[in-house]
Amino acid sequence: MHINETDEQSSLISYERIKNELETDVLGRKLIVLDEIDSTNNYAKQLARENAENGTAVVADYQTAGRGRLGRSFISPKGTGIYLSVIIRNNMSVSSAQLITSCAAVAAAEAIEELCGCDVKIKWVNDLFLGGRKICGILTESSLGTVAGTLEYVIIGLGVNVYSLKGHIDSELEKIASSIEDETGKRISRSRLCAVLLEKLEMHLEKIESREFIKEYQRRSMIIGETVIIEEKGKSRTGKAVSIADDAGLTIKFDDGEIRTINSGEARIFRNQN
Ligand code: BTN
Repeated sequence: MHINETDEQSSLISYERIKNELETDVLGRKLIVLDEIDSTNNYAKQLARENAENGTAVVADYQTAGRGRLGRSFISPKGTGIYLSVIIRNNMSVSSAQLITSCAAVAAAEAIEELCGCDVKIKWVNDLFLGGRKICGILTESSLGTVAGTLEYVIIGLGVNVYSLKGHIDSELEKIASSIEDETGKRISRSRLCAVLLEKLEMHLEKIESREFIKEYQRRSMIIGETVIIEEKGKSRTGKAVSIADDAGLTIKFDDGEIRTINSGEARIFRNQN
């Protein structure tokens, strides 16, 4: 914490502020803070190809071409959010890597909750919600290693809407997306959030094999018991979300009676129309 800082100063993302707060051993030890970039995931991927070390983190104040899941874009206005990508290269098995996104969702939910004292929910598979609207998305991308069943690297990309999005997004997007400030009235420090996020992520990734985080993922899930719609082979199917499986998959009882766990794609909650 910096003494005598104005609210405006403490809301800035800076290398020094993040480093002052950071208590990790690996994640963010090598830290790159940028004013502007197309996508921090693209930047991190380039660094990973150039052999950047495990834990290297890239943070930007603004993304001109932020990317989301399923080929969507992620609106990343200047001065409002955290756009963070972390390179993981630790010989993680493919099976553990499949859990990374849900593990990161728990870490991000805990970090936000620690700073703003609010109850953050997870909408399967990787969206964080506050007050019924999305405040954070996660895009994990990986490159296969030369040894079968291993990964060369994984990029975990997190986008958190921290300050008010009013005037930054259109009215359609406002129905489904929001920010921590818009939902809680609190203006938390983005640099501090970045540091806490890296700490929580490191803590959960260290023990990912134990799958301990799954309990917290299940507890925070906002989809269980809801009617959901999924797209499969170009068709919409409706069912009830029954539970989160131990591999973080979503178990659905479909309207035709079939019960199955899905591990990829998207489940829209019918009630909310989102
Ligand atoms: C989603 O909601 O579909 C995932 C959004 C992920 C956005 C983050 S912001 C940092 C990183 N860089 C990107 O281009 N995307 C991820």
